[in-house]
Amino acid sequence: MSHAQQHVLASAIVLALIVVLGIHVFLFPMYSSNPRIRRIKFSEYEQPLCHTNLKNVRIPVEWKNQCPKYGIVSAVQAGRLGNQIWEYASVWAIARRTGLEAFMPRCILKTLEEHFEHLSIPPLSYIGQCTLDGGQVVNSLDQWNSTEQSIILPKYAAHWSIVLDWLEDVRREFTFKPKLRMNAEIVLKEAAQQHNLSDPTFVGIHVRRTDYIDYLWKTRKVRAAPVSFYHAAMDHYERKYRNVVFIVASDNIGWCKYNLKRKKSKINFISEPDEKGPGKDLAILSSCNHSIIDYGTYGSWGAILAAGETVVFNVTEYFSTLMAEVLPNWRVMG
Ligand SMILES: *[C@@H]1O[C@H](CO)[C@@H](O)[C@H](O)[C@H]1NC(C)=O
Ligand SMILES: *[C@@H]1O[C@H](CO)[C@@H](O)[C@H](O)[C@H]1NC(C)=O
Ligand SMILES: *[C@@H]1O[C@H](CO)[C@@H](O)[C@H](O)[C@H]1NC(C)=O
Ligand SMILES: *[C@@H]1O[C@H](CO)[C@@H](O)[C@H](O)[C@H]1NC(C)=O
Repeated sequence: MSHAQQHVLASAIVLALIVVLGIHVFLFPMYSSNPRIRRIKFSEYEQPLCHTNLKNVRIPVEWKNQCPKYGIVSAVQAGRLGNQIWEYASVWAIARRTGLEAFMPRCILKTLEEHFEHLSIPPLSYIGQCTLDGGQVVNSLDQWNSTEQSIILPKYAAHWSIVLDWLEDVRREFTFKPKLRMNAEIVLKEAAQQHNLSDPTFVGIHVRRTDYIDYLWKTRKVRAAPVSFYHAAMDHYERKYRNVVFIVASDNIGWCKYNLKRKKSKINFISEPDEKGPGKDLAILSSCNHSIIDYGTYGSWGAILAAGETVVFNVTEYFSTLMAEVLPNWRVMG
């Protein structure tokens, strides 16, 4: 394990402890005074994993009398679309690694099902009548040492190194709904027509601005990627491929229009100014041939699903920079 991975792991464990302690206090108020009260129904366990309220769910007959034989893998909901895709993918990959069954809190599935179809992980509600042994919960793969134990990943789980072990299968897990796929196809086709190109190479650019700039500075003393990063990355693709069309998505598309436009490049800005349609933009980025991303979980999924080459902004010990060290067609710049 590299120093970088150890660092990520240490932070993950600290976070995990905080969350698990939080869950314990919430779920097991009697825990310290009466250690025998440890079993809890999954139906009561699901809501605390969510930051949105759950409504009643109809349980399919085939799940009515089924309980997992061993522990399960699940995760706490946190963040927006990009985070929740990582949470889902982390659970999926850890379940694959351990052989445990995966279940997602319904709130995460609700976020993802707005954009993806045929997700394979069932909701936790389906085993609502089954019980979880509170004494057998760990919050990372490293603490897991018995099939009786369940792994509940704390907030903001993004176990990228395990996810990368099954990258092809994970990509298949995230199939956009037909409407989003069709829209992406139309947007790219129109972009090619607009520039009068019959054999374009589409390069998706995701520019993360707004709150993340503050977050990067506060947590890492890292400044926002400069305009020169995006332009250098664009130069790279324009040197390497013919008929390159850049497709820009951002949470601040106004900034992009003002800063990234340049005469020599064919560049289209697809995001709406009010950040509506994160799924729509992600489907378009995922349909591009190659990617340029700065930072953030959302852009990383655009690049992973596009499955082409990726240029990523250099942030020391940051997950997407670390991924670029492992993935052969990813490179760090800036
Ligand atoms: C297995 O994990 C549990 C919970 O994390 C821990 O209390 C126990 O000591 C571990 N056992 C071994 C053999 O590592
Ligand atoms: C588009 O490209 C074709 C072939 O290169 C050319 O004949 C045509 O004039 C171009 N049309 C426009 C509008 O640029
Ligand atoms: C590039 O992406 C477009 C749109 O998804 C696709 O139609 C085309 O086949 C891709 N080109 C290559 C060389 O993969
Ligand atoms: C990324 O940044 C680190 C720290 O500043 C530096 O050592 C490294 O050479 C950079 N990598 C690239 C590819 O620019």
